[in-house]
Amino acid sequence: MKMFHSPASPYARKVRICAIARGLDARIELVPCNPNVSPPELLAQNPLSKIPTLITDDGVALFDSPVICEYLDSLGDALPMFPEHGAARWRALKLQAMGDGILDACVPRRGELAKPKEAGRDALIARWRAAVERTLDALEAALPHTSKDIGTITVACALGYLDFRFPQEPWRATRPKLAFWFEGISQDEAVAATVPHT
Ligand code: BEZ
Repeated sequence: MKMFHSPASPYARKVRICAIARGLDARIELVPCNPNVSPPELLAQNPLSKIPTLITDDGVALFDSPVICEYLDSLGDALPMFPEHGAARWRALKLQAMGDGILDACVPRRGELAKPKEAGRDALIARWRAAVERTLDALEAALPHTSKDIGTITVACALGYLDFRFPQEPWRATRPKLAFWFEGISQDEAVAATVPHT
């Protein structure tokens, strides 16, 4: 398998954590890629020009991260990252949506913050930031569980991205329980091995 990725992408990080957890990382060749410049080799596989994009051994292109992670769950017989059914599944999928939602608000906000100040831009930036703050408060109020699944690793990737790209916006002081939870999951081997860098 081959995966278009960036070492800074929190979405690619999710996939890499799943791959390590399921013993599949050695089977995935990582192809560094900047989706913002729409490289032809990525566009040929993913018209959305998004990373991560995984090319399976059968030559099928899969995106985006929830789809790739679920695909990896279908390979081999290690413990699944997606609980199969019942309350555990919905709990994990909801946490995945919260973590991805934080990222979906943070990644474009970082791009907008780099642009010249302008009224419409500021309203959008404020809306994205408020969504993240509310979601962090909700996670503090109802902490993620401690077992490793698609939900908890996605929240870990979202918090890691905040530390990586928004160090000027500390989130821990008003969320001590979430900070403690994050300390715990950060010790996980796959989480520790994939800390983002530029
Ligand atoms: C980043 O550099 O922050 C980034 C790179 C790829 C995807 C998302 C974020």
